[in-house]
Amino acid sequence: MTHQGKFYGLGVGPGDPQLITLKAVAILKHIDIVAVPKSRMDRDSVAWEIAKVHCPSDIQLMELEMPMTSDETVLQAAWQKAASQILDALHSGKSVAFLTIGDPSFYSTYTYLLNLLKRELSSEQIETVPGIMAMAAAAAKVNQPLATGDEPLLVLPGIEGVDQYAEIPNLVVMKVSRNLPEVLQNIKENGGKAVLATRVGQAGEKIRELTDQEEMGKVDYLSLVLINRPVK
Ligand SMILES: C[S@@+](CC[C@H](N)C(=O)[O-])C[C@H]1O[C@@H](n2cnc3c(N)ncnc32)[C@H](O)[C@@H]1O
Repeated sequence: MTHQGKFYGLGVGPGDPQLITLKAVAILKHIDIVAVPKSRMDRDSVAWEIAKVHCPSDIQLMELEMPMTSDETVLQAAWQKAASQILDALHSGKSVAFLTIGDPSFYSTYTYLLNLLKRELSSEQIETVPGIMAMAAAAAKVNQPLATGDEPLLVLPGIEGVDQYAEIPNLVVMKVSRNLPEVLQNIKENGGKAVLATRVGQAGEKIRELTDQEEMGKVDYLSLVLINRPVK
C-alpha cells in the first residue's frame, strides 16, 4: 500500500514574509506540494506572494480556484474540486500544504476545505499551523492595543448592524469593503479613534486614521477597520 501524505493548513500571516512562523517556514522547505487558493485563475495569489520566498524554487504548485461569490452551489463545487485534488495527491504519497492569509482558523476558506478533508483523513494526517492575523498586524503597525485590561474586543465580519455595539470599546471590522459607509457613520456618531488598514505588510499598504467627517468611496477587499472608543 502507498504511504499516504500529510495535509497541512498553513497560516502565512498578513503580508510581510517575515511575519510567518518558523514552523510554517520549516514545512514549506520540505513539503512536496504547495496548494495555492486563487480567487481567479488569472490573478496572483496573495498567500503565494507571501510564502514563495521561503520555498525551494522548484516547488510543485497546485492552484485551486476559490471564487469570491456568495453562490453556495458554486462554492460547494469549488471546495469539492479542491478537496479531491488534494486527496489525490495525498493518496499518491505526497504531502500538501494549503496556504491561507493570516490565520487559518479565522474567516478562512480553509475551514470549508478542512471539513471536507476531515471526512476522508485521520486526525494524524491533518495539521493546522496558526498564523498572525491581519488585525494583529494592523494594531502593531499603529502601535495600538486591540484590547487592554478587562475590556472586551468584538470582531465583526463586515456586516450591517454595527450600531448595536455602541457599548463595546474595541471593535475590529473585517471585510469592511462591504459596509464602510455604515462604519463611517458609526464613527461619526460615537467618536473615538478609528484606523483603516489596507493591505498591511503588502505592496500598496495604506494605513490611516479616520476622522469623524470621513467621506470615502470603495476600499480594497483586503482592508479592515480598528475602532477604540469611549463606552457610553
Ligand atoms: C477572508 S478574511 C481572512 C482573514 C485572515 N484569515 C486573518 O487571519 O486575518 C479576509 C479579510 O481579512 C482582512 N485582511 C486580510 N489580510 C489583510 C491585510 N494584509 N491588511 C488588511 N486587512 C487584511 C480584510 O478585512 C479582508 O477582507
